[in-house]
Amino acid sequence: MLTQVLSATVVGIDAAPIHVEVDVANGLPGCHIVGLPDAGVKEGRVRIRGAIENSGFKYPLRRITVNLAPADLRKDGAAFDVPIAIGILTAAGAIPPEVHDNSIFVGELALDGRVRPVRGVLPMAAYARARAITRLFVPRENAPEAAVVGGDCAIVPVGHLGEVVEALQNQGTRFEPVAPPTFLPSTSADLADIRGQEVARRALEIAAAGGHNILFVGPPGSGKTMLARRLPGILPALSFDESLETTMVYSVAGLLAGRSLITERPFRAPHHTVSVAGLAGGGPAVRPGEISLAHNGVLFLDELLEFGRPALEALRQPLEEREIAVVRARRTVLFPADFMLVAALNPCPCGHFGNRLRTCTCSQAAIDAYRAKLSGPLLDRIDMHVEVPALNYRDLAYGEPGENTTAVRARVETARERQHQRGPRSNARLTSAELGAAAALDGDGHRILERAVTRLALSARAIERVRRLARTIADMEASTDVRAPHVAEALQYRFLDREGA
Ligand SMILES: Nc1ncnc2c1ncn2[C@@H]1O[C@H](COP(=O)(O)OP(=O)(O)OP(=O)(O)O)[C@@H](O)[C@H]1O
Ligand SMILES: [Mg+2]
Ligand SMILES: [Zn+2]
Repeated sequence: MLTQVLSATVVGIDAAPIHVEVDVANGLPGCHIVGLPDAGVKEGRVRIRGAIENSGFKYPLRRITVNLAPADLRKDGAAFDVPIAIGILTAAGAIPPEVHDNSIFVGELALDGRVRPVRGVLPMAAYARARAITRLFVPRENAPEAAVVGGDCAIVPVGHLGEVVEALQNQGTRFEPVAPPTFLPSTSADLADIRGQEVARRALEIAAAGGHNILFVGPPGSGKTMLARRLPGILPALSFDESLETTMVYSVAGLLAGRSLITERPFRAPHHTVSVAGLAGGGPAVRPGEISLAHNGVLFLDELLEFGRPALEALRQPLEEREIAVVRARRTVLFPADFMLVAALNPCPCGHFGNRLRTCTCSQAAIDAYRAKLSGPLLDRIDMHVEVPALNYRDLAYGEPGENTTAVRARVETARERQHQRGPRSNARLTSAELGAAAALDGDGHRILERAVTRLALSARAIERVRRLARTIADMEASTDVRAPHVAEALQYRFLDREGA
């Protein structure tokens, strides 16, 4: 007997339907799975048989053929265990075929019949809703994420194969409702923890206000990592749509761990030994990389110069395009990657160059070689470079606590609001033409910039960065015009340009 069960898989962060066809016929007992399954799917044969038998059902000792369609879509993982098991039980006559009409099943089976969580349930739920699917059977641990977009589609959380069968046999069963997502207040560290470092704090606020990528340069222990960690907290709260987009990425990566929605902006800090696939996405199962896990949040690259060339090169395209195309043998998968970049580095190999409190032990050649590594395409995409000097004991011991995260975020939100009134893009994302229109300088502004250009030999690119920053600083003051003081302050955040002069 031939039967068909509907399941789903993820391609990028979208779900695609998979038709699981099961035929049980007379012949040599055995189970064959066709339709480009990977090893995880094939091993399912053992799990499925164990799960069926240990759930008190009879496994048909006949010739079982399973076809996963469409064949050209690569199927990874074990999420088809449940639909295959349901197909086998239906074909064997244990479940009437009509009871799973218009239902989608996903879940991995353990040998004892328990249903284990799978990746990508949120996009599957979005798909089920869009296609007016009646019921989506999901592993219990994935139910919170599915409930986020459940809509009219009933989310049926199942913990055991027996529960799936029971739910199908008793159509009247009322399923326990899945609790709606809960929004938790931000728990990240507070800006008030940082003593002193007024310039760096101000720079961080400007970065947040305009969406500017930022580089902190300073000796060990000066607070660069502390500053970076506090950026997500001063960014405007996630909108529901942003939250959903970010949650899609975590769902596909299998990193939700029972959560429903990601409600805080992500902060990702990959180690400098990260692989290109780990950073940008890819690998055999095409998982999103760190840049996509940072979507709508912050990517922090500590010790920037320790990262390999290929990893840094891989950042260039997504920094421009806000998404990444991961190419796999058969198809290209797009992952969103719209993040703010924060990078940190020491001023020289020993870390103490320019430090009033310690002596740098590096040779000039070593310093030059270190700096030379920095130039190039990535630095071109960083609007702000800010020095974070060593803190003296007095500031650390007696410094007044600075403003807290909530107060700073309120100003950031106001500045962003002003940008939204001009157009959809934040200042950091404006095209050159848009910037020209939005950030016309007054006479004094032009004079200051001209002097700086002569003195510091700023490139055309650097000039544009300065104007971008000046626009944001003006927005923070609710000033329509970009005036001389805004330009003057913006020039302060081009540390490496000034260093070179
Ligand atoms: N401005 C500061 N205010 C309060 N504490 C600070 C400050 N700067 C540093 N500290 C203390 O020093 C520790 C180290 O700071 P942090 O890790 O941010 O330094 P870093 O600049 O990232 O150093 P490294 O270059 O070694 O990574 C912090 O955990 C904190 O306890
Ligand atoms: Mg650090
Ligand atoms: Zn040094």
